[in-house]
Amino acid sequence: MDEILHRPRRSVLYVPGSNEKALSKLASLEADAVIYDLEDAVVPILKDHARSIIIDLVNSNQHHKKEQIVRINSDENEYGKKDYEILEKCEPDAILIPKVNHRDDILKYVPYLKNKKTMLWAMMETPHAIINAYDIAACSEKLNCFVMGTNDLSKELDLNDLMRRTGLETSILTCLIATKANKLSIIDGVFNAFKDAAGFEEECRYGNGLGLDGKTLIHPSQIEPCNRNYSPSDEQIAQAEKMVTAYENARKENPEVGVIVIDGKQIEELHVIHARKLVAFKALLGK
Ligand code: COA
Ligand code: MG
Repeated sequence: MDEILHRPRRSVLYVPGSNEKALSKLASLEADAVIYDLEDAVVPILKDHARSIIIDLVNSNQHHKKEQIVRINSDENEYGKKDYEILEKCEPDAILIPKVNHRDDILKYVPYLKNKKTMLWAMMETPHAIINAYDIAACSEKLNCFVMGTNDLSKELDLNDLMRRTGLETSILTCLIATKANKLSIIDGVFNAFKDAAGFEEECRYGNGLGLDGKTLIHPSQIEPCNRNYSPSDEQIAQAEKMVTAYENARKENPEVGVIVIDGKQIEELHVIHARKLVAFKALLGK
């Protein structure tokens, strides 16, 4: 397989690092990944407390089946300077760096990750980050995911609610192309109105249709619809399996075959590569 297959990152749930009640619910939640937030969801007076809770939680290994990411504060402020402790005292799957503007904002963390499994994720939430998206995506093998920070971006771009998603489209697509070119994954921003189930479904369909890997979430009720929308349907899997089998059989019969026809459509090897990726993704989900 010549495509890198990432761990499923369909549903990526933010949990405020200071909210012990929400943290205690995690074992019962089916999110693929969790972002322990030390940044915007934690007020300054609770930052030290939240940091120590998260260090203990990661060290306890109790949520090892989920990908565990810690969102730190920008190291331009006092909290972010102290957050380097996360890299010294525990080993999460990744740290999520906020307010990235250019590649140096990522590269400065790389020396701290020597001999550690911890990877870097980038919050894409400023106009400079969008302009520099390709350069950021290509900057280090330690970087493996972009997270769209659509709340900050909307603010920076002066978007009004009515045209919000339209106004974000250029930013999302720019980041999408930068990640695909560098084999990173990319996760959509949050949907704030967590009681608006129909609006949430629509935003999941939109992101999945564009080729994003998943969505960041703020509430447990968003996990099931998110996982459903970002999973291949049974019909898509059946179609992919049919394509792979037909192509392999045709090749066995005649090694010179490059194109076959299924249901009146031409199938080339590139379609089969994509189909194999879907089948492998299904296996990762244990479906
Ligand atoms: N992760 C895990 N559990 C969560 C959760 C989360 N993000 N958000 C809510 N819960 C839990 C609550 O603790 C509550 O648990 P209980 O059934 O044991 O009482 C249950 O889910 C229902 O919560 P609910 O009462 O509907 O929500 P709320 O009004 O308490 O909180 C928010 C709403 C938006 C404040 C809360 O969901 C939240 O803090 N989300 C994350 C925000 C965040 O991290 N933002 C930063 C990135 S944008
Ligand atoms: Mg932000």
